[in-house]
Amino acid sequence: MTRLLWREAVYYDANKTMSEAVRTMMQMDAEAARETAAQADAGFLWDFWYPAVRSTEVRGQKLVTAMLLEVPLVLGRTAEGKAFAMRDSCPHRGIPLSYGRLEGKVVECCYHGWRFDACSGQCVEIPSLSSQNKLKVERIFAGHYPCEERDGYVWVYMNAPGTKLPETIPGAPGLTVFSDKYKITHFSCELPSHIDHGIIGLMDPAHGPFVHASWFWRKRGSIHEKAKQFEPIPNGFRMSPHSPSTNSAPYQLLKKITGEPVTTTIDFVLPNIRTEEDRSGKMWFSSRATVTPVRRDLCRIDFVAAWNLFFLPVSIFRIFGKIFLRQDQETMIRQAEGLKHNPRLMLIDDADRPAKWYFALKANLIESRRTGAPMVHPMDGQVTLRWRS
Ligand code: FES
Ligand SMILES: [Fe+2]
Repeated sequence: MTRLLWREAVYYDANKTMSEAVRTMMQMDAEAARETAAQADAGFLWDFWYPAVRSTEVRGQKLVTAMLLEVPLVLGRTAEGKAFAMRDSCPHRGIPLSYGRLEGKVVECCYHGWRFDACSGQCVEIPSLSSQNKLKVERIFAGHYPCEERDGYVWVYMNAPGTKLPETIPGAPGLTVFSDKYKITHFSCELPSHIDHGIIGLMDPAHGPFVHASWFWRKRGSIHEKAKQFEPIPNGFRMSPHSPSTNSAPYQLLKKITGEPVTTTIDFVLPNIRTEEDRSGKMWFSSRATVTPVRRDLCRIDFVAAWNLFFLPVSIFRIFGKIFLRQDQETMIRQAEGLKHNPRLMLIDDADRPAKWYFALKANLIESRRTGAPMVHPMDGQVTLRWRS
């Protein structure tokens, strides 16, 4: 859209040198097509919400940069406190808008001072225009994306390059909580991996005894056979409510304190969300992990957890949470070393079945968007998977 308007600006301004303008346009179009093709190949899922930065990072008149799906973004907060996300590129000559400044709800480019409404991307002023100039400033837009804050993150809706935003988009996903008062905490870490490896690592049930073996969680020797029931849900799958593994100390403790059974429900939904809800009597723990593609070789896990367990202080949870995430991160760094050489890989039953579902869900979603036909779910009902962990 931005490019189109750039083209109009050329028509208005440069009708004396039309052939040159047309040449430039054609180059720009070819470039846009190349860019779109490259992005399509990166294995990203567009038209979804992704967390870009923590809300606390976006404050005052500061412009903050982020990257989602290889799109450079500039984020900020208007004087009224509304978070916004624009493409970090001036539609005039491409300099990052993040080098400019934010004034109220206007972002000003540092190069020629073009000014844009931060929430719509619409150009509101071009300082160099003379009184004779007929250029319709309001028809020029900087790239901008819908932006919402939830659970301490600024979420950005990444619509596919070269497409128009649909009339209505769903709200950004929120964490489910089960009481008014609760504790909440956040972690994040980067993984030097393609999004698909990040996600199948997240849902992989077999790495626990090897990667996360530790005195406070479980011993490596405690590996035993498990059978878990899964069911299809829209855009994903659910590990049906069950009593969590008997070899995990924290669940044992919870059961002892409440005297009631612990029930755990784990969901995965496209594009990248794993949620877990643990409940025991009035006590609950709820968490969400998202794996967000930054570039094709880099993704980021954002983990948020909330709970009303009086015996679990945030500080203690953070110590263990960080150890956990670090263990996953170290493993993915090692894996990336191996993946550089393009090895052949395999997915085995049943431990890797969730990974197979993920790939099938993703492929089927892309196909249904292409054809307009309803999405085919890869599961046709409940299934029990068995593995040892
Ligand atoms: S490059 Fe931004 S105003 Fe010229
Ligand atoms: Fe893990």
